[in-house]
Amino acid sequence: MRIILLGPPGAGKGTQADILSDHYNIAHIATGDLLREEVDNDTALGQKAKEYMRKGELVPDSLVIKMVLKRLENPDTKNGFILDGFPRNINQARELSAGLKDKKIEIDLTVYLETSEEVIIKRLSGRRICRSCRAVYHIVNVPPKVEGVCDRCGGELYQRVDDNSQTIKKRLMVYEQETASLIDFYKGLDKLYVASGDIDAQQLFHNLTEVFGKKIAA
Ligand code: AP5
Repeated sequence: MRIILLGPPGAGKGTQADILSDHYNIAHIATGDLLREEVDNDTALGQKAKEYMRKGELVPDSLVIKMVLKRLENPDTKNGFILDGFPRNINQARELSAGLKDKKIEIDLTVYLETSEEVIIKRLSGRRICRSCRAVYHIVNVPPKVEGVCDRCGGELYQRVDDNSQTIKKRLMVYEQETASLIDFYKGLDKLYVASGDIDAQQLFHNLTEVFGKKIAA
């Protein structure tokens, strides 16, 4: 399966991509995670990306597209992949289509997680992430057994620098201005499935596997 997950910040793209990639044994490629790793490692790319991310703006296409196309060459994508957070604008979508065409591979389905603003704000303000293994929690919806400590690896949980109310507002604005038009782009290619991102994560996973199952069988 080759899947694109579209949706506003906090729609649950990362959460679903994690479960789906385990279920189908396919690579989970999250541009936000790749960029945060570059920032943490203080690489040249990380240094350039850091300020854009802190402010909730998109990192320039010239940096992101190259990074994703290179990541798609990794052998772990042979069995398929889920793109989470990419593409983020029409230019990225076109470059992705061209890059995949060169590799003679096609996206099977783009899933748009339609999510209400009220849900988004509650989710992002309560999100916590493990510094070591990057597992994602929520102080109310997905709390760790011990406050501030990762269930999986015992690592410290932290709040992302862009998960504050001012930057969340900015990210939502950028999403509306740059990313929302991708819904029509993929609808036009007859590759769009719309799911509600507002529902319980396990229920959503179940719904999505049903849709993918039909796609695989077709
Ligand atoms: P990125 O990391 O991609 O952030 P985002 O798109 O804003 O998405 P999020 O990670 O905030 O949300 P999500 O939908 O993955 O939700 P999650 O599953 O964590 O990007 C960050 C920055 O990097 C950008 O602002 C930009 O600067 C840069 N960037 C990244 N990609 C780029 C690109 N292509 N081009 C240019 N710049 C780029 O869930 C959120 C919370 O809700 C969690 O706490 C979770 O536990 C909880 N939750 C999830 N699902 C449910 C559910 N169904 N029910 C209850 N709780 C749930």
